[in-house]
Amino acid sequence: MRLPIIGANWKMHKTIREAESFAAEFPADADLYRKVEVVIFPTFTALAVVGNALRGTGIKMGAQNMHFETKGAFTGEISPNMLLDAGCSYVLLGHSERRHIFKETNEFINKKVKAALAHGLVPILCIGETLEERQNGRTEDVCKEQLLGSLTDIEARDITTMVVAYEPVWAIGTGVNATSQDAEETIAFIRRIIHEKYGQKAGESVRIQYGGSVKPTNAREYFSKENIDGALVGGASLEVDSLSEIIKSAGII
Ligand code: 13P
Repeated sequence: MRLPIIGANWKMHKTIREAESFAAEFPADADLYRKVEVVIFPTFTALAVVGNALRGTGIKMGAQNMHFETKGAFTGEISPNMLLDAGCSYVLLGHSERRHIFKETNEFINKKVKAALAHGLVPILCIGETLEERQNGRTEDVCKEQLLGSLTDIEARDITTMVVAYEPVWAIGTGVNATSQDAEETIAFIRRIIHEKYGQKAGESVRIQYGGSVKPTNAREYFSKENIDGALVGGASLEVDSLSEIIKSAGII
């Protein structure tokens, strides 16, 4: 049995004060957070206060990006040990906004995945096709290329501990979500690729989330699918009520 995981990707939203009050208001339900792993991804400036506010709640915290070096002349960047210092245990890598707006390549993301693993941060590797790629029937090719390209030279035992988020670009922030059947098919394909390349244990253990316009009204459909192990939520994670409803629906499956 894979533990479902819900990620709240706040993207470039919330001031320090807003982030802190969200964390303070969020329902304490340690039993639920043992059944559903919950990870909040605030902006860098809010990490320290959110980390403090979440201490002892069972809710975890991650960063939305990082550099692969530990320190040095990398203006504007943040390192894995700085994230650990702020209280992170997870990091999002290769989000489509990083791939498409900031032109991050698989090779660059691969260095970050290796650095995260080396520092004991759990990477959530994001992959997914654009609308044009989908319309050209390239969904599986694109997912495979992003997945394997971002995981070059990573050992099977590391794959078992990490998380993959399948986020079709056309479903992100658009209100147009993939159907649960489409998401299930692509996620089952991703799991098959991992199985073929890294063995049965990696294929069975790796957790794969769906992301893209997940809301309280559609979340449960995804979680009822065999291969979908939770969600990476953007817009609907910004409000306490909608995020906690999504978490509850993962907990009752
Ligand atoms: P939305 O839930 O706003 O579509 O964002 C999804 C996403 O990009 C999460 O990483």
